[in-house]
Amino acid sequence: MPDKRKILITSALPYANGSIHLGHLVEYIQTDIWSRFQKMRGHECYYVCADDAHGTPIMLRARLEGIEPETLIARIWQEHTADFADFHIDFDHYHSTHSPENEQLARAIYVKNRDAGHITQKTILQAYDPEAGMFLPDRFIKGACPKCGAEDQYGDNCEVCGATYSPTELKHPVSAVSGTKPVEKASEHLFFQLADFEQILKDWHLAGHVQTEVANKLGEWFEAGLADWDISRDAPYFGFPIPDTEDKYFYVWLDAPIGYMASFRHFCDQHSIDFDTFWQADSETELYHFIGKDIIYFHALFWPAMLHGAGYRKPSGVFAHGFLTVDGAKMSKSRGTFIKARTYLEHLNPEYLRYYFAAKLSRRVDDIDLNLEDFVQRVNADLVGKVVNIASRCAGFIKKRFANQLSETCVEPALYAEFVQAGEQIADYYEQREYGRAVRDIMKLADRANQYIDEKAPWVIAKQTGEEQALQDICSMGINLFRVLIGYLKPILPSMANQAEIFLNVEPMTWHSQTEPLIAHRLNPFKPLMKRVDMDNVQNMVEASKTDLAAQTQGTEMADTTLSQDPIADVIDYEAFAQIDLRIVRIVKAESIKEADKLLRLTLDLGGENRQVFAGIKSAYQPQELAGRLTVMVANLAPRKMRFGLSEGMVLAAGPGGKDLFLLSPDSGAQPGMRIK
Ligand code: MSP
Ligand code: ZN
Repeated sequence: MPDKRKILITSALPYANGSIHLGHLVEYIQTDIWSRFQKMRGHECYYVCADDAHGTPIMLRARLEGIEPETLIARIWQEHTADFADFHIDFDHYHSTHSPENEQLARAIYVKNRDAGHITQKTILQAYDPEAGMFLPDRFIKGACPKCGAEDQYGDNCEVCGATYSPTELKHPVSAVSGTKPVEKASEHLFFQLADFEQILKDWHLAGHVQTEVANKLGEWFEAGLADWDISRDAPYFGFPIPDTEDKYFYVWLDAPIGYMASFRHFCDQHSIDFDTFWQADSETELYHFIGKDIIYFHALFWPAMLHGAGYRKPSGVFAHGFLTVDGAKMSKSRGTFIKARTYLEHLNPEYLRYYFAAKLSRRVDDIDLNLEDFVQRVNADLVGKVVNIASRCAGFIKKRFANQLSETCVEPALYAEFVQAGEQIADYYEQREYGRAVRDIMKLADRANQYIDEKAPWVIAKQTGEEQALQDICSMGINLFRVLIGYLKPILPSMANQAEIFLNVEPMTWHSQTEPLIAHRLNPFKPLMKRVDMDNVQNMVEASKTDLAAQTQGTEMADTTLSQDPIADVIDYEAFAQIDLRIVRIVKAESIKEADKLLRLTLDLGGENRQVFAGIKSAYQPQELAGRLTVMVANLAPRKMRFGLSEGMVLAAGPGGKDLFLLSPDSGAQPGMRIK
């Protein structure tokens, strides 16, 4: 490989209809660490991404909010970019797939593939919602499972028995858009002939561009045969019109990966970088896509095939990672472990999570678990207890006794050299995406540095007379070892490294800028670089994730994966409705809870009986304006233990949230305790 490599890196483009959550962040943090590492090594490296803005769910979500899709995706773009910036995800450019660059590239790639004979037309039958006037994606049809009869299953698979089927097989199907029964309707679609690329894809996989586990999976797919891929959708659809068709649009997954190119195109235009060098068929640059395991098919089959068919280069590597679990289970809204990036940031330092994920990440496709106890313990033990501790043990003496000046010699050159040499292996681990191993090696060095300080016991020497030089030498040595460690941690902890650079009074560190120790160098005053994580903050975050949800869904529990996609709540029968005990209540007292930014503690009178309920309505109401008024509560909701006490029910409010939340009120004459029928 050339000394100075040209590298283009991407993360998968998040959908523009939901918030970034900790699961997403596994990917963006993993990619960001790699990109920062490559830049520190001195390579020409770019990291681009974008919002994935097209498709039916986004169109329907905008409709539901009564806004244009363009307005929705602009708002989500703001939200996503703010979340990423606050997690120190350092994109060179963050674009949108709904952009002129993307439209132009998508058309060109399609036309090249079409003209080369890789596109075919077929008429297919599809579920159609006559009331909504639209074809329905599988996910928008619900009904009873054809195998086990379980009610309320999606059109593609049953969550009860695991069967997969086509939506036409569902019993009693209804459209999730209008609630009516879908009909079958014929329509002409365009297909990409993936099988044309079978040999090219096989060769590409064999050349080692994917992980072993992925190659095995691909083997199975090849065996099953590569089917034609439906790349068109009928209006109404939020996407790009397909050239030379009437009212047909590119399926969102056709233009989504092209969004990688579009984002880079925009960046190149702004910075006078040559786009073609990176994308032409015989390019010598490197192109890497970081993705989750759920989207391997798109990235290891369709994408390289489309690129090849249009005369572009194929990726140098597709790096798939596993899914995030929290405390050993799938992220769950009811347990409060479906944690949004923003909720995390309201309670905890983003670098804790960057470190914890790094410590657990490898080059494999395994799922990774965020164990909340282990998270607290590990961050405190490693970062605060080991790394920062080295500096804080030495900096005080250097400041008080030597006016922040380091020694004129390095007293342990062999030890320093050992630290520098360890960097090659650590770099190799980063390069291989074995961050867990890199972290383990770095922590071994941190132990070694602490051991050195323990042995030399500067606090003892400080009390002896005539040992000034020894004291300065030992503490300078400690600071120098600390500096090497911070250099190694910088891809993971960029903000802490920046603060350390200020303290050390050095230029921004690169991978090789620590090969020589700081000699006769003046430091800046030391400030604590990182606070301990407090379990209370973690618990508050979990509680806040529960109340977030309560405000959003007004108590209905939706499946974790569907909240952001489901435009309309499921249809329930009368029996299910009759089970809900809705009552008129009087708010006797409303109190604000200091530790919770969203919650009010309400005391409710149900006509003789008092209940305590925590409601996520603080953003919309002052406690004093609520006392005395009547409203509506769900009285038979299972009580839930919260950090502040037991919540015995739920009050009902409407609206999107924030200031726009509206409690319900009965007409005059209603009395506390009355049942709503
Ligand atoms: N829009 C598509 C990607 C298009 S790429 C051309 C998409 N978006 S997504 O928002 O659902 O996911 C974005 C990335 O986050 C994907 O790589 C996905 O695998 C990853 N993750 C989403 N949830 C995740 C976890 N719970 N855990 C780990 N990664 C997760 O897919
Ligand atoms: Zn079933």
